[in-house]
Amino acid sequence: MNTVKAIYPGSFDPLTNGHLDLIARGAKIFDHLVVAILKNSEKSPLFPVAERVEMLQEAISAFGNVTVATFDGLLVDFARQQNAQAVLRGIRAISDYEYEMQMALMNRRLAPGVETVFLLPAEKYSYVSSRLIKSVFQLGGSVAGLVPPQVIARLEARVPATGRDEKPKV
Ligand code: PNS
Repeated sequence: MNTVKAIYPGSFDPLTNGHLDLIARGAKIFDHLVVAILKNSEKSPLFPVAERVEMLQEAISAFGNVTVATFDGLLVDFARQQNAQAVLRGIRAISDYEYEMQMALMNRRLAPGVETVFLLPAEKYSYVSSRLIKSVFQLGGSVAGLVPPQVIARLEARVPATGRDEKPKV
């Protein structure tokens, strides 16, 4: 029997409920889903890779067919090493499309055997990004309901309270 393995790559800095929504959708259509955290991103991350692995492992424990890994270098090389046939990516809005299309076409050129599959996250997460979560949290805004509770605890531990507490008292 043919089984389909997919890689869901990203920075996950931090994991959001939008990512988790996509993982749940991917877990339903692929036999095995590997959530793969890029190790050497050009961006300077808030959370070290080891902590992002922990966050994801806590969040995916209910899925029997989802695992977490890290990778370096080209995504398509990792996909081939893993014998994966597909890459899963989420598209939240049209603004994501151009960048995602470029990556998907470049990856297809590099590895014609690996297909990119796009899924839409739930509408309620269509504006949620790791970048916005960090920025809102750092400025003292609530991100409850947009990231798993254990991610909020990790944000509290990592983001200095001073920045968060300096809200004007009315
Ligand atoms: O969550 P992100 O930051 O949008 O994820 C981007 C990611 C990790 C999927 C992308 O940067 C990537 O695949 N990097 C690995 C290097 C690579 O393969 N580059 C060529 C892609 S066209």
